[in-house]
Amino acid sequence: MRRPPFLPFLDGPPGIAPGLKPIAQDDWLLPDSEAGAWLDAKRALMTRQRKDVFAALEADAEMAECAAAVLAVTGPASGTWPTPLEAASSMVSDDLCVMIRGEDGLWRLRAASLCAPTYWQLAVKFNQPLGGLHNPVPGGDPGLARRISRIFDGLRPGMLLERCNWSVQPGADRFTPSSAPLKALAAGMDAADALDQLHLRVERQTICKLPETGTVLFTIRVVMDPLRTALAGPGHVDAFEAAWKQVDPAMYRYKGWQLYERLIAAALDAARNPVRS
Ligand code: HEM
Repeated sequence: MRRPPFLPFLDGPPGIAPGLKPIAQDDWLLPDSEAGAWLDAKRALMTRQRKDVFAALEADAEMAECAAAVLAVTGPASGTWPTPLEAASSMVSDDLCVMIRGEDGLWRLRAASLCAPTYWQLAVKFNQPLGGLHNPVPGGDPGLARRISRIFDGLRPGMLLERCNWSVQPGADRFTPSSAPLKALAAGMDAADALDQLHLRVERQTICKLPETGTVLFTIRVVMDPLRTALAGPGHVDAFEAAWKQVDPAMYRYKGWQLYERLIAAALDAARNPVRS
């Protein structure tokens, strides 16, 4: 049983505060804790379902600069890929989102290799500014979008920032453009299986600005661990329960947590009483 690399519930419930912290360049993309579980499937998706997981609009120089930054860390890509961004994406479990500031001052999603979307579709969000991207998020548009925009404007090349979103989901699927199948799975799940079948889904995100084009490269790594593993450390069960109960009601509804209530109660009970589970 591995120790999950990210346990954001130990810091409280998920919210919309950016919660960005600076990290060292050496901690950017490697070690890649998810490569073993995801990279082969990710590459297959990139080849077989390219139209679902890749999009770009007049972003060649920006994609090339982002790709070079990633490949400088991972080493050269193996195989042949249609664009440098896809070549770079094939080397890391992280998804790569290229944000470009337009003449209107808005940062837009102008290119992406996105194989592990947390319940959104690239085709829907492509070329949207931060407001459109965050429209369904409580407080997302315009409040959060404006804050993110200011952060992007002020970011200096060489700075690297990290943050995490988290939720729970049944099973460990990563290519999840919609949450509907997962909600159906949760509705039919036997509560006795919750501790092993429910997973902590963490989105570990990083942000950096590239010096030549001024592009912001937004990386998203989805990290999956069964709740049994995530709750195994000292104090983790209590911390998880507290975070679950303290989440803002609007965020609770946005994440659909009401559907998981019965399963979370069973998982926490099983984690506290291992003999019975
Ligand atoms: C500092 C930067 C950012 C912050 C603080 C931030 C914050 C958030 C938060 C709090 C959520 C709600 C999701 C959850 O908690 O599970 C969210 C969702 C989302 N974010 Fe961001 N975000 C940032 C940058 C970006 C960027 C650059 C993109 C571009 C791809 C993006 C795309 C999205 C999308 C598509 C969603 C899902 C919205 C939906 O439900 O349709 N975010 N973000």
